[in-house]
Amino acid sequence: MHRRLIAPGALAAASLLLAIPASAADDRPGAPGIGDSYYPYYGNGGYDVSHYDIRLTYRPQTDELEGTTTLLATTTQNLSRFDLDFLLDVSEVRVNGAKAAFTTSGQHELEITPARALPKGTAITVVVRYSGVPSTKSAYGFSTWHRTPDGAVAADEPESAWWWFPSNDHPLDKATYDVSVAVPQGTQAISNGTLQSTVSGPGTTRYNWRSDKPQATYLTTLAIGRFDITTGRTSSGVPVVNAYSKDLGADDGAARASVERTGEIVDWLTGRFGPYPFNSVGGYVPDTTTGYALETQTRVYYSPRQFAGGSNTSVVVHELAHQWFGDDVSLKGWKDIWINEGFARYAQWLWSEHEGEGTAQELADYVYASHPAEDAFWTVAPGDPGPDNQFDIAVYDRGALAVQALRNEIGDEAFSAVLKGWPKKHAYGNASVADFRAYAEKVSGKPLAELFDTWLFRPTKPAAPAAQGAAVAQRATAPVPPKSWKRIEATNDVHGG
Ligand code: TRP
Ligand code: ZN
Repeated sequence: MHRRLIAPGALAAASLLLAIPASAADDRPGAPGIGDSYYPYYGNGGYDVSHYDIRLTYRPQTDELEGTTTLLATTTQNLSRFDLDFLLDVSEVRVNGAKAAFTTSGQHELEITPARALPKGTAITVVVRYSGVPSTKSAYGFSTWHRTPDGAVAADEPESAWWWFPSNDHPLDKATYDVSVAVPQGTQAISNGTLQSTVSGPGTTRYNWRSDKPQATYLTTLAIGRFDITTGRTSSGVPVVNAYSKDLGADDGAARASVERTGEIVDWLTGRFGPYPFNSVGGYVPDTTTGYALETQTRVYYSPRQFAGGSNTSVVVHELAHQWFGDDVSLKGWKDIWINEGFARYAQWLWSEHEGEGTAQELADYVYASHPAEDAFWTVAPGDPGPDNQFDIAVYDRGALAVQALRNEIGDEAFSAVLKGWPKKHAYGNASVADFRAYAEKVSGKPLAELFDTWLFRPTKPAAPAAQGAAVAQRATAPVPPKSWKRIEATNDVHGG
């Protein structure tokens, strides 16, 4: 409990304090950030969301979005007020049915003051009514809302929610989602999970999507446009829903020839990582000019450009591997990005091996040999790369090299047990790099502090003894890239901008 000293002379403040019940003395505002070391204002303190109900209408021609988001949450402290992260124009907020006061602050904070303070442990329902033109809103000088000729897309990392729904925007606060969007007839709305129903009104169709397992805010996606939707099932019966913009032009065939292999790749990944964790799977390819792909939960985002050079199963493997590494088990802080990207990249190496285009060991050897000691590549520590290097190529390539070094250190049997056990151990939760090390040590029975320090944390190229110990080759001659190399690197379009 916070004791408050009343300064002599502060009579007005003192009488105010006396006018409210004694228990309210420790009501205080929720923090404007959840405590992430890279992004101090991302997410918020004081409550934990369990469910988002997002009900919107979108007009592609004008980029107008309007509707209501209802959050179900529980307070984690005595709250006088709390923040959501959001950029659109709010017209009304209700907390547990009663009108609440609200204002904006900082770059993306919506500050809500309920009519009555909320004791710790209270179940709350927050209704936010809003409207706005997302493409006109920015924070820190940027926007990640992508307009397309036929609609728009929200898919970015770590920031994408601010432009379309109010949230506790950090992977530490996962929740389930119902996303319902009305669009003009002939246009589709794509989101996560299963399509529960479509309901036609005069001139519009409402798409109702449900994602029934905990999901991080940045993994919640929305695409509005003219799509062709395909459906199927994996061998184990998981429903597959894919969507292709009708305007993919020359990329259409290669996009379908890649993304339609989702079921096959989920089956293959299931053999490596254990059962697929969600109720639906698939991907969508909107008519965007972006270059990257993103592991949006159950419904991966692919840029058409990923297929400009022909079919590309490697990127499908990367994004689907994230469903286990990143989505099912999410990071605790953005500094823990290696538990996402190191493994998604390593899955591409395993797929290369499966396709006979170079083994994981050959790819590891190539990464090691192709970056000389003085290359800045080795100054980035994948285990804590810093916010500016969060998606540096080293997080991916050195990150996957670290995974291969671990495999060589603990042997195939323990390694495979780690890959399968990890998603189970932290299912639908969060974990850190330190948690991963502790888990790998427990499963293998080996101390791994030195190995993790060498490959993930030291800002230098691991020396020959460490490399030899990890069975990473020392080559005298210029390294030759394995066949899969170019394709794997091309999935990193986020680095090209
Ligand atoms: N996580 C994405 C992937 O591995 C890549 C990525 C990093 C990204 N930063 C991004 C995608 C920003 C979109 C926007 O596939
Ligand atoms: Zn990735």
